[in-house]
Amino acid sequence: MRNAVAAVAESIPRHIAIVMDGNGRWASKRFLPRIAGHKQGVEVLKRTVRSCVLRGVQVLTVFAFSSENWKRPPDEVSGLMEILVVALSRELNQLKKEGVHLQFIGERAGLSERVKKSLIEAERETADNHTLILNVCFNYGGRWDLVQAAQALAAAGEPITEAALSAKLSTAAVGDPDLVVRTGGEMRLSNFLLWQAAYTELYFCNVLWPDFDEAALDAAIQAYAGRERRFGMTSDQLPGSQTASV
Ligand code: FPP
Repeated sequence: MRNAVAAVAESIPRHIAIVMDGNGRWASKRFLPRIAGHKQGVEVLKRTVRSCVLRGVQVLTVFAFSSENWKRPPDEVSGLMEILVVALSRELNQLKKEGVHLQFIGERAGLSERVKKSLIEAERETADNHTLILNVCFNYGGRWDLVQAAQALAAAGEPITEAALSAKLSTAAVGDPDLVVRTGGEMRLSNFLLWQAAYTELYFCNVLWPDFDEAALDAAIQAYAGRERRFGMTSDQLPGSQTASV
């Protein structure tokens, strides 16, 4: 029995990362403004955090605002900033109760003082929580992350090695994702966790983010559990189980 329980636990990814795509299309289909899709996206994110906690996922990293999203219409950009600030002030207590440790990943320069203040407060208020780490990538791009890591090494006069660069990435404390999920039907990374996803299992689904529910999450986890992660080795070289357990 003990082994059976362990086998199930191993099929749950430790770290899931999600590109929450499809909010705009979800809203358009309902003749609503795009921002309504983002608002519904926050609700779905809240539910997904809870579902991940229940399933024993330890780290959830979500792409909320990319370095490229500044190119969107100004009212959508300001709407996303407002959604972030409002969601944090409304949900912080509940997140604290659920044991969620919030971290924001991305370039702080360029964000307003108000937004920066609410990110700092949310990080400070949840710093002692250990049930799940929620990394919200905000003004984040994988290329930015690599450049800032390389610049940090150059400034310190350190040699550039894989280990040294990894240690300077914004996700260094949580490690690489085991599974990247992208909703909304597109099959690309869009500058998300470029270095970190080198050996990550990728899962694309057509569900629009505001429709992403427990069944959709479980389908992604089930697909992951059926993958064989070889990290460049052959099947025969893998220790023990031949499915995603490393
Ligand atoms: C992509 O869908 C989604 C975004 C750019 C924003 C994601 C934000 C949320 C889910 C809300 C949570 C946000 C915070 C701040 C915690 P899209 O707009 O590109 O959709 P489309 O492809 O249908 O146009």
